[in-house]
Amino acid sequence: MAGVPGHVPVLLDEVLRWLQPRDSGLYVDATLGLGGHSRAILTASAPGGRVIGFEWDDQAAAMARKNLAAYGDRIQVVAASYVQLQAELSRLDIDGVDGLLADLGVSSLQLDKGERGFSFQVDAPLDMRMDRSRQVRAATLLAELSEAQLADLLYYYGEERQARRIARYLVQVRQREPIERTLQLAHLVAEAIPKKYHPRRVHVATKTFQALRIAVNGELDNIRALLATAPALLKPGGCMVIITFHSLEDRLVKQAFEQDDRLQLLLKKPLEPQAEEIRRNPRARSAKMRVAQRK
Ligand SMILES: C[S@@+](CC[C@H](N)C(=O)[O-])C[C@H]1O[C@@H](n2cnc3c(N)ncnc32)[C@H](O)[C@@H]1O
Repeated sequence: MAGVPGHVPVLLDEVLRWLQPRDSGLYVDATLGLGGHSRAILTASAPGGRVIGFEWDDQAAAMARKNLAAYGDRIQVVAASYVQLQAELSRLDIDGVDGLLADLGVSSLQLDKGERGFSFQVDAPLDMRMDRSRQVRAATLLAELSEAQLADLLYYYGEERQARRIARYLVQVRQREPIERTLQLAHLVAEAIPKKYHPRRVHVATKTFQALRIAVNGELDNIRALLATAPALLKPGGCMVIITFHSLEDRLVKQAFEQDDRLQLLLKKPLEPQAEEIRRNPRARSAKMRVAQRK
């Protein structure tokens, strides 16, 4: 099935297989992005199924509105964090939904739009805010955290084993020049780590960028909040489908799905994309999908 230009939805067939969208069903897409998954859910649940899509990136929300305009009032875009799920559903007078999807992480739009500062391949200010009304940018953290705080951030959010080395070097460098650009940071991380420890398959700054992005956007706290509130909002039998892109996220989802008495685990092991999907869409490479059902 074709996606929306600019972002190829990950594990799309698998999402539909587990969510089983049906006419008259009501679904939440917690991370609307450009609307790729939502479009497929709307198509599969025609003519009456509805989607409420949360998206806190104003650029993405505007594009999703445009991309999904043909579905009329079957799609409702809420330009807010999915952390507001409960409040927004009660504002809309909804007390239960038939399914919920969260496709976490960044969209290709955010990665490809150099100016947002998510990518170490395009030179841009070190911003990384998905919701541009938030105060703290990646450059703010690099300027203001102590060496120990920076090292902890890289270690816990990036699982970066060279965290102390990188933090020490960045703190030295910032005494003579501010660290404000993506390519500058990518070079500095490469300089901080001895060549023999550079990973072979990914860029040496990958984990540093991941850690900063998680911190800037409060990603792990957001996921915890979603996992705590969403089960109560699912109707019995309704499915919660979550796609993660790194182990920190996946661990939170796994624990919550296993320990929440309201949920029944539908997949013991996470689903991962087939080789063919990864060939078509390399961004799918690290995706893991977990599914649980409201008892
Ligand atoms: C991987 S993309 C989703 C792509 C989408 N499934 C599609 O097919 O187009 C993740 C999106 O979730 C959004 N997002 C991340 N955290 C969010 C949050 N707490 N609340 C609302 N949206 C969030 C990001 O801004 C990004 O656009």
